[in-house]
Amino acid sequence: MKILAIETSCDETAIAVIEARGGFRKPVFRITSNVVASQIAVHRKWGGVVPNLANREHQKNLVPVLKRALQDAALLQNSKIKIQKPKVKRNIQRVGAILEREKDLLKPMRKFLSRYQKPEIDVIAVTNGPGLEPALWVGINFAKALAMAWNKPLVAINHMEGHIISVLLSQNQGSSNTKLPMSKQIPENKFKKSKIVFPAIALLVSGGHTELVLMKNWLRYNILGQTLDDAAGEAFDKVAKMLGLGYPGGPVLARLAEKGKTGIPFPRPMLASKDLNFSFSGLKTAVLYFLQKQRRPFHRGLLADVSASFQQAAVDVLVAKTLRATTMHEPRTIVLGGGVTANNELQAQLQQKLANKFPNVRLLLPEKALASDNAAMVGAAAYFHATKKAFANPRTLKAQGNLRLSFSS
Ligand code: KG4
Ligand code: ZN
Repeated sequence: MKILAIETSCDETAIAVIEARGGFRKPVFRITSNVVASQIAVHRKWGGVVPNLANREHQKNLVPVLKRALQDAALLQNSKIKIQKPKVKRNIQRVGAILEREKDLLKPMRKFLSRYQKPEIDVIAVTNGPGLEPALWVGINFAKALAMAWNKPLVAINHMEGHIISVLLSQNQGSSNTKLPMSKQIPENKFKKSKIVFPAIALLVSGGHTELVLMKNWLRYNILGQTLDDAAGEAFDKVAKMLGLGYPGGPVLARLAEKGKTGIPFPRPMLASKDLNFSFSGLKTAVLYFLQKQRRPFHRGLLADVSASFQQAAVDVLVAKTLRATTMHEPRTIVLGGGVTANNELQAQLQQKLANKFPNVRLLLPEKALASDNAAMVGAAAYFHATKKAFANPRTLKAQGNLRLSFSS
């Protein structure tokens, strides 16, 4: 099955083409193209993602990103016929009704549809939540327009489900990850083989979410615990901002932490609570109070120590809750997903503690390039829905900013 996947839930305009086979028993995937156009430069001066700017940027980026993704996958072909068939013409006109609110996208979209042939794909997948609704809508309407023009079925994917399934993908084997504008890489022809043995628990840690999810089988998601306030990535970003490390500061803070000591006694919120929920806002405030007592400008050594101590407090809670969930639910696999998964300390400490306490539980991590937002993970998740013929109705499909993972049938 060939899947074209679209992801616009936050500040990355991402489109990928993936190939999948093997069904539920032996699913394997190959990324044939994976294009991510980042908007960080646009949002940086505001210190965070501005929803309406994201909407405008997605409108601008989607057609060039689609062209690139199809080109990388060798699926972009010029239309042979100079004069369009009436049906194709009619469809191009009808796109206007679907993209009524995406005025900047409509013109390039019509041009694209009249210039290129319908590609050989089987399914179109799109993220319908959670995320910023003005950003999600652009991707959804774009996907609806393509599905209508090309007469392809549509699958709606929960972004967090994508992060879970990202561990089944390999960027190195058979893929070209294009950060626009970059030169094309030739994909190798290999499928990645890795396995989630059920039951599985996923620790999802991103800029918007922190949750522990139990998966008894494919598509069966049960949220065991989640953050009651800030997400882990959000706390990393906010603390980084307090330290003057720019936006998004999570990765910068993590790098700085390598040079620091972990001795500052920041709190480990909810570490002792018996449930599987998290809270990071108190930790963030503790860092703020600590910094208010320090002399400015902060010297480099202090910045590194605060980074290391904050990071350790966050990692302690994330690791402890994952171990608690493992004791309670006895999974055979633990999956890590989301941008914060790229954190080396989180990876190393979780790996080590699991090896000591639960040596038979396997830990699956996404490759670094696939830990942050991308569309390949959306396409891979869509494979399971498409295999079950769980298609979305284009007439009723809508953006759901607070969409939760649920037990889907
Ligand atoms: O999953 P993601 O790319 O986007 C969302 O869905 O939110 O996650 C982005 C988050 C940001 O908050 C970023 O600061 C954080 O992941 N992040 C990190 C690291 N790399 C990215 N946080 C801590 N350590 C890292 N190495
Ligand atoms: Zn994400």
